[in-house]
Amino acid sequence: MLILGIETSCDETSAAVVSETNGVWTIASNIVASQAAIHSEWGGVVPELASRQHIRDICGVVRAALDTAKTDLEDLDAIAVTQGPGLVGSLLIGVSFAKSLALSLNRPLVPVHHLAGHIESLFLQHGDLPLPLVALVVSGGHTSLYVVKEPGSYVRVGKTRDDAAGEAYDKVAKLLGLGYPGGPIVDKRARDGNDEAVALPSTRMTHADRNDPTLKGDLDFSFSGLKTAVLRHVRQRADHGAPLTDTEIDDICASFQRVVVNALLDRTFEAADRYGAQSVGIAGGVSANSRLRADFADRAARLGFPAYVPALSLSTDNAAMIAAAGLRNFHAGKLAGLDLNADPSLEL
Ligand code: KG4
Ligand code: ZN
Repeated sequence: MLILGIETSCDETSAAVVSETNGVWTIASNIVASQAAIHSEWGGVVPELASRQHIRDICGVVRAALDTAKTDLEDLDAIAVTQGPGLVGSLLIGVSFAKSLALSLNRPLVPVHHLAGHIESLFLQHGDLPLPLVALVVSGGHTSLYVVKEPGSYVRVGKTRDDAAGEAYDKVAKLLGLGYPGGPIVDKRARDGNDEAVALPSTRMTHADRNDPTLKGDLDFSFSGLKTAVLRHVRQRADHGAPLTDTEIDDICASFQRVVVNALLDRTFEAADRYGAQSVGIAGGVSANSRLRADFADRAARLGFPAYVPALSLSTDNAAMIAAAGLRNFHAGKLAGLDLNADPSLEL
């Protein structure tokens, strides 16, 4: 079968065609129109500008996805779309477009949770994985740990109590004056820095979250203290007069990145032990990080876990992963009617 995926939850307009033959998924196309250049001027995503740009881009992006896949609308068997979470104005463009397409083509409409999409990027890239899988989803809006005992089932066992890791990257880049999105820039600067140069705190959660008392909470993350510590360091340093040197910026990036990567990997492998994982994966925009990828592979090899990350093109937001998650939902009968609405805080 052929499924069209549509993703507009944040600042990428994306459409993809994924085929399924005898249970094997193949990406026929995956078109991403990034709005990064528009938002970088403002130092972060401006929601109103994002939704307006999605409207401009969506028709062309869907057309490009069909053309690249050498297929046409009538060949599609289903339409999958990100229902949430994300920016409501942005989500609504994708949801409305997908609903119109499903109605006019008389095809099933498949709602997809954005984070399920990120998790399915691992299966899309690598095929069937040994289960249970412990998956870290780490992006600009989320930092969560999931256990996947069977395909299409996602149980959350950890999450951030405050900032997402990608958000911390973006905020640190902003306060260092490095631009947006910050993750790739900090990643690059960190390669030349000394990761022990700046003493920064690492937060370890030991108490249950009042909002989620059923979980122990010791697999949760917290990055806002780290971000504040970087801010304090930069302010103190600024009191000495001269601006930060390139070497100092590299050192701050490297030191910040060491703390983030260690926190992410510590909790991930604790979860892997606790839930008897047969494989471990990392997905989401921050999984593009070079140190996270390298340290993840090292630790997994040392601890004896098969480790998986998506290709870089499937790490950051894209519609192929939404199409893949759409195939899971389609087979499970999880379809939507034309009353489908965007849900900015949809839970998984
Ligand atoms: O998954 P994604 O594309 O969008 C969301 O769902 O949020 O993730 C975007 C986030 C941004 O915060 C960006 O700074 C971060 O992923 N990111 C990175 C890297 N590439 C993207 N963070 C660290 N290192 C990278 N190389
Ligand atoms: Zn994402």
